[in-house]
Amino acid sequence: MKRKVLSAILIAAMTLSLAACGSKEAPADTAAPAEDAAPAAGDEEEPAPAGDAGSGDLITVGYAQVGAESDWRTANTESFKSTFTEENGYKLIFDDAQQKQENQIKAIRSFIQQEVDYIVVAPVVETGWETVLEEAKEAGIPVILSDRMMDVSDDSLFEAWVGGNFVKEGETCGDWLAEYLEAAGRGEEEINMVTIQGTIGASAQVGRTEGMANKLAEHSNWKMLEMQSGEFTQAKGQEVMESFLKSYDDIDVVICENDNEAFGAIDAIKAAGKTCGPDGDIIVVSFDSVKAAFESMIAGDLNATFECNPLHGPRVAEIIQKLEAGETVDKIQYVDEAYFDTSMDLEAILAERAY
Ligand code: AHR
Repeated sequence: MKRKVLSAILIAAMTLSLAACGSKEAPADTAAPAEDAAPAAGDEEEPAPAGDAGSGDLITVGYAQVGAESDWRTANTESFKSTFTEENGYKLIFDDAQQKQENQIKAIRSFIQQEVDYIVVAPVVETGWETVLEEAKEAGIPVILSDRMMDVSDDSLFEAWVGGNFVKEGETCGDWLAEYLEAAGRGEEEINMVTIQGTIGASAQVGRTEGMANKLAEHSNWKMLEMQSGEFTQAKGQEVMESFLKSYDDIDVVICENDNEAFGAIDAIKAAGKTCGPDGDIIVVSFDSVKAAFESMIAGDLNATFECNPLHGPRVAEIIQKLEAGETVDKIQYVDEAYFDTSMDLEAILAERAY
């Protein structure tokens, strides 16, 4: 917090000298950021520059990232790294937890020890965070959650959360499937499904499973044969699909809780001598809408993908800037998300796609 005291002294000194000179020009330190400031990943707004970027007095941000399990995660990491640059007034301390909550807890404790100005966490799972968040609170370090949510009894333990509405994503998927089956004349047919879930206990898994369950309850002819975790990875997605295909010979739909699991599932389906996609034996749907999912739809393997936007770097920077300015921020900030299927002009969308 030494940085903040220094900033206050600097600002007071500048205000006094400006008043004495009667100048109307902003001091160099508070001028607009250089035009070559690093852009946010993709097509999102430019990252909010730190107010004291020119002074060499950087805002230190510790980011406890989940891991590198998917294309989505890679895009998310890139969004943070290209936003929290020195040019933009930040020092980013990045930690990859390799999908392990204990690693994230260690990273948060290390950020506290290093007296960072802000801690940002994309939590692996929702529960088990109270103790370490209390420690951050005691140290006076604001915590911002991004992507996945934490289930804590005291919401003063974090300043804000920004991410996708995972339940809505699951429901959108279910609604899409109902319309798709209806259009194919299969609205009344018994439909056998399997789900390759994400990391159990992660918001993206909990929400998507719940959203889809809400839609399953509306269709008595839909039957969920089995659900198993594919850990949000391609390799595990393939492994789980292989085992589903051994257990059931009449799968109509596979719901993959991220695109990478779908890529693995598609490999397993093909290896088993079956086909998938709009003209195939098995309907494959997934979440995220990364570039490779568009390629898979164009190739005729994947039917649809439900968007989860990973470009949270600029959004978190905006929250930090508001907090720095003493403004209040919305506690829960959902990001708008779409979906894509093979009825669309996928080549054109892919050409403009940021991740
Ligand atoms: O929390 C977002 C999810 O995490 C994305 O769907 C997935 O790809 C990632 O691993």
